[in-house]
Amino acid sequence: MSWRIIVASASLVLLLSLVLHVALHSPISPLPLALPSSSFPPNNLLKGVEKLGEGSLILPEDTCLGKDGKLYTATRDGWIKRLHSNGSWENWKMIGGSSLLGLAPCLDGDIIVCEAYKGLLKVGEGGLTVLATEVEGTKIFFADDAIEASDGSIYFSDASSKFGFDNWFLDLLEARSNGRLLKYDPLKKTTSVVLANLSFPNGVALSPNEDYLLVSETWKFRCLKYWLKGELKGSTEVFIDNLPGGPDNINLAPDGSFWIALIQVRSRWLDLIHPSPLAKLVLAAFPKAVELIKPKKNRAMVVNVESDGKIRRMLDDYDGGVISTVTSALEHEGYLYLGNLRSNFIGKLPLKG
Ligand SMILES: *[C@@H]1O[C@H](CO)[C@@H](O)[C@H](O)[C@H]1NC(C)=O
Ligand SMILES: *[C@@H]1O[C@H](CO)[C@@H](O)[C@H](O)[C@H]1NC(C)=O
Repeated sequence: MSWRIIVASASLVLLLSLVLHVALHSPISPLPLALPSSSFPPNNLLKGVEKLGEGSLILPEDTCLGKDGKLYTATRDGWIKRLHSNGSWENWKMIGGSSLLGLAPCLDGDIIVCEAYKGLLKVGEGGLTVLATEVEGTKIFFADDAIEASDGSIYFSDASSKFGFDNWFLDLLEARSNGRLLKYDPLKKTTSVVLANLSFPNGVALSPNEDYLLVSETWKFRCLKYWLKGELKGSTEVFIDNLPGGPDNINLAPDGSFWIALIQVRSRWLDLIHPSPLAKLVLAAFPKAVELIKPKKNRAMVVNVESDGKIRRMLDDYDGGVISTVTSALEHEGYLYLGNLRSNFIGKLPLKG
């Protein structure tokens, strides 16, 4: 046998084993991800944050303001914690689980909590109630964010019905619309699907008079507006698109505008593979390579968007040096409170000026 035949056969064997490995182990069925064309120059204003509860708040993804006027957050050690006016954080309620995400206040003083795998929960002095763990016969395993309307209905997102919280990055690589917007009816105690086939529905927020609801579609770099009242009731339109990052939690600001946190799902390497289903299919078959390519400490960015969908302000920490992976921004009494999935504090920033 000549060396050419040996090399050719060896290459063929390698190629076949790669194809077999990918066919057996790649958990995704990817589509190309369309990247936004927009970008904003850095201003690094988020580098000015004060670090609240530093060291004691592990990965505080979201915050909310309770009916008692106190700030609440949920941390990765399973606690709902609240901030007292003397500046101390109380371990308020233990929920458990490893993926506490969105929080929202209830009219009755309780707090609504999304734990990705446990579903939609409600906690207060009366204890913990599990509101929803499944919908239309399918299990919820990526409960992400919720909001209560004044009639007691709770709208919440199930970011992906294919990949759970621990595999969110595979959902990004797949770039399909695996998520849904759900509604919990407090009278019937049932949950229904409001919108299906959403591309990682994440934050949800209601307009001041509850005539529409906003929901983030993170992998589409846009937020949708779903009409709850009026002539357009039941219809959906794009509220804002081509955002320079993936929209995460959305919070209504006191003046009727919205704060949207934008997470970074791009990097030099990721930008090369996002458009290519084949590259993503192969990559996803190698968990160690997937870990390597995940975005790490990266740009923190939040935008303030008016009710007509126009961006009024952008604040960032360009290299994520002080605060990174900001997932929520809540405005209260002239300050912005910033949840994040990279550190053990909540950022607090004065908004004056
Ligand atoms: C702060 O206030 C809370 C609630 O009133 C109280 O339980 C806590 O002991 C106080 N902490 C300090 C350090 O004063
Ligand atoms: C949603 O996606 C499913 C599965 O891909 C498809 O069968 C269904 O028709 C889609 N529904 C809508 C409303 O697009």
